[in-house]
Amino acid sequence: MEKIIIEGGARLDGIVRISGAKNAALPVIVASILTDKENKINNVPSLKDVDTTCQLLKGIGVRVERSEDGQVIADASHINDTEASYDLVRTMRASVLVLGPLLARLGKAKVSLPGGCAIGARPINLHLKGLEMLGAKITLEHGYIVAEAKKLKGNRIYFDIATVTGTENVMMAAVLAEGKTIIENAAREPEVVNLASVLNSMGALIRGAGTDIIEIDGVTKLKGGEHTVIPDRIETGTFMVGAAITGGDVEMKDCIPEHIEPLTMKLREAGAYVDTGEGWIRVRGNGRTESVDVKTAPYPGFPTDMQAQLMTLMTISEGTSVITETIFENRFMHVAELRRMGADIKVEGNTAVINGVTKLSAAPLMATDLRASASLILAGLAAEGETVISRVYHLDRGYEAIEKKLSALGAKVRRIK
Ligand code: EPU
Repeated sequence: MEKIIIEGGARLDGIVRISGAKNAALPVIVASILTDKENKINNVPSLKDVDTTCQLLKGIGVRVERSEDGQVIADASHINDTEASYDLVRTMRASVLVLGPLLARLGKAKVSLPGGCAIGARPINLHLKGLEMLGAKITLEHGYIVAEAKKLKGNRIYFDIATVTGTENVMMAAVLAEGKTIIENAAREPEVVNLASVLNSMGALIRGAGTDIIEIDGVTKLKGGEHTVIPDRIETGTFMVGAAITGGDVEMKDCIPEHIEPLTMKLREAGAYVDTGEGWIRVRGNGRTESVDVKTAPYPGFPTDMQAQLMTLMTISEGTSVITETIFENRFMHVAELRRMGADIKVEGNTAVINGVTKLSAAPLMATDLRASASLILAGLAAEGETVISRVYHLDRGYEAIEKKLSALGAKVRRIK
């Protein structure tokens, strides 16, 4: 098993290019199922979850080609299967995104029901409810969701909770449904907007993406096209915290500053200098940061995917910080690891109270999920001594070339087998 070793104490300094967003790339690649024409997708990051998505599509008969420069070509003209197996879904929950497109294009989908997850139960009842509202008949057989519909019909769908992949799944099904679909309390995340604009460029008629009401007029056919994945706002944010926590000076280039504004505001409140311009953000440390309070919320609130990384910064900030996680019920797995480095954190339900200490000390650590892993990397950068992080495969699901990017900024980080 691979491990990452970090010698703490180096300042991050320089420019880092932000990769395409994992959570935008996955639905855009999956959307190629909706047409028999070829799609070219640019700015796709090189990540384990992208590999899994391509493998899933190949398994159902989609021709998928990937090039070194981040382009994926997908051609679903000879799609011949409708099943996403347990083996794939258990390694990547986002596999459930094929449910809506398969149902819309082939009238049938069989997808393994995902189990629990390190960060929470993460049910998909809202995805299923939405598809049922479009006329799908859904049954559960031997751990698989079997969805069938001769012809999907547009409807009014209200989500009790704004769900990102749920909105994407239903939106992809509704583009080929008969008539109009209205999704109320839709997720407003930039990844949903990216998917909607890709679908529109393929001939779909979607209005309102980015607001909580999305209207879709069904069409009979979609065409192919060439698309670009938006920059990864969570990778951007992770490097922003990296700059602040090491007292460094880093420019994140090829990013979209508006997408990570809640973090920008918190870092400024904590005392770091943050400047932004067209396609770039620069973060400069300014001595020890001060504690700030944070509550995660759906976009445009503070992203749950940045909660762990901000908590790491709070462990060595001046004062007491209160962090409340409102999206996932078990997203404090990093706390126990951070405590092993000397952090003073108390957890009560979905709230963590962090009393800033003056320093963290390096320790052997275990990564538990993707964003928790990123928070441990940040802790290692700031800690005194050598931190060894195991189970780094979590990191490879969502951060492209992270140790190369960090090394280029001056971090002392390496990977060992
Ligand atoms: N929920 C339900 N029922 C559903 C769907 C969701 O109760 O049918 C609940 C969830 O349990 C959660 C809340 O609704 O409490 C919001 O979950 P959401 O469905 O929005 O999450 P997701 O679509 O499964 C995506 C990202 C996550 C990110 C969340 C929240 C992808 C592939 N994944 O997950 O990304 O944390 O939105 O922003 O887009 C990550 O990248 O590390 C990651 C976990």
